[in-house]
Amino acid sequence: MELLEKEKKLSESLLWKLQSNAYSQFGPKAWSQKGVPFYVTSNPFTASAYANMVFSYLKDNPINLQEPFYLFDLGAGTGRFAFLFLKKFKQLLNNSPFASLKLCYIMTDLAKDNFLYWQSHPMLQCFFEEGILDFCYYQHTKNDLRFKLEYSQKWIDQPFNPIAIIANYFFDTIPQDLYRVHNGRLEEGFVSLFTSKKWPDHQNPELINDLSWSFTFTEVDHTDCLFLNAPQHRQLLLSYQQLENATFLFPSGALYVLDFFKRFSKNLLLLAGDQGVATLPQIKMWDPKLALHGSFSLPVSYYTLSEYFSLNLGEAFLTQLPDPAFIVIAGVLNQDPHFHYETQAAFQNVMKDFDPQEYWRLGIELEKSSLSLEAILLLVKLGRFDPMIFHSFFATIRKELPFATNEIKDKLSFTIRQVEENFFPIADGDGGFLANLGVLFFDMTLYEEALLFFEKAKALEGEKAYLMSNIHHCWKMINNPPS
Ligand SMILES: C[S@@+](CC[C@H](N)C(=O)[O-])C[C@H]1O[C@@H](n2cnc3c(N)ncnc32)[C@H](O)[C@@H]1O
Repeated sequence: MELLEKEKKLSESLLWKLQSNAYSQFGPKAWSQKGVPFYVTSNPFTASAYANMVFSYLKDNPINLQEPFYLFDLGAGTGRFAFLFLKKFKQLLNNSPFASLKLCYIMTDLAKDNFLYWQSHPMLQCFFEEGILDFCYYQHTKNDLRFKLEYSQKWIDQPFNPIAIIANYFFDTIPQDLYRVHNGRLEEGFVSLFTSKKWPDHQNPELINDLSWSFTFTEVDHTDCLFLNAPQHRQLLLSYQQLENATFLFPSGALYVLDFFKRFSKNLLLLAGDQGVATLPQIKMWDPKLALHGSFSLPVSYYTLSEYFSLNLGEAFLTQLPDPAFIVIAGVLNQDPHFHYETQAAFQNVMKDFDPQEYWRLGIELEKSSLSLEAILLLVKLGRFDPMIFHSFFATIRKELPFATNEIKDKLSFTIRQVEENFFPIADGDGGFLANLGVLFFDMTLYEEALLFFEKAKALEGEKAYLMSNIHHCWKMINNPPS
């Protein structure tokens, strides 16, 4: 084992340099090639739930329709969430009192390659052209309260309207600190990092997948010296002492981000989702460890995030039976505290009653069983026409198709058109999804529709032999229909 770093305060570890190097260097490949997870945050079910909550938040607040409504997507990743969110949100705005809302959805990132990717992604073009989508550089340590929007080249500061912040798989990516309460006394955790082999460049993000680590703890002598410039953070940290014995991560990076946006806008809605813990019993049973996936992530204490909102006279709503695999928070801060009845009701309806993690689990469980074609179509609809779920059942759909009634075939055709509308390719080979849709139309003897999908797949994948052969077969059937 090679020692890379010895006993560093977690938030000051080399880890975070490796993390930002990973995202900056990988760009969109972080998701298409390196294996950074994103399904649960970036599907139509989650995006639709978030759109409903932002829409309800508008109803809870006095909104000036002459002024922009800014929505920040922190670490916007592939852009798939932004695409799905905007599609749904626009539907909700149309025919509502907010139809003329001056929406400005701002995708942020530290990885400039992502900017180029978003700017050239075909599915985002209509939103850029409509003037409702923009992007800007943002690093979690940002202090300057102005943002330079890169697409429109405008500067923004001091928003007139409340703002919304989306932070999906973001707080688990930025710095945290480690503590332990041992017999009622607070100890700080320090991390040592090791690799299995010698790496000449210690800042090379490729070494992340080779990392192992250990933690040591030292008693904190003067708790009043902790977070000297952020007494609220100290207060939040010290509240853990009630646990007597527990090891926990403290989301110092996330709290910094919330403080920053609290200064930027006095009225805000935060919607965030991460792996993490939300209740004191969960914290007690918790063994903090890094998840490695090209970059790395750490579970987030949504307990602390929720307490942050209470401490600032705001409100926070958390998913109901928080599953450590994915927790969602809706937090509101207001200059003059008032109730958020609409936001709260929306959270109940679209999150607590059945949340993204439960939807994800359901999909995984049902994949193990044999479903009828009708049940699969209902599941895809429950997921708001989720292309990934449809894709994972493709083989079963094809197997069941010869036995389907005309009514089910009509439903299948409708479903195919809906999932195609939610399709946001991110990797070479994603065009195979469109080709599969074409295959289903071909199987239903709908050759012109099949041809359309094979042509769309060709536009993405190029003239691959299997596509050209499928296109040829379609033309054959169109020109010489079986009598
Ligand atoms: C795990 S990804 C989440 C992407 C997306 N929100 C999702 O749900 O799939 C983290 C995102 O935050 C960005 N990021 C990483 N470290 C950051 C930092 N310190 N400050 C700002 N953004 C950061 C990454 O480039 C990436 O887009």
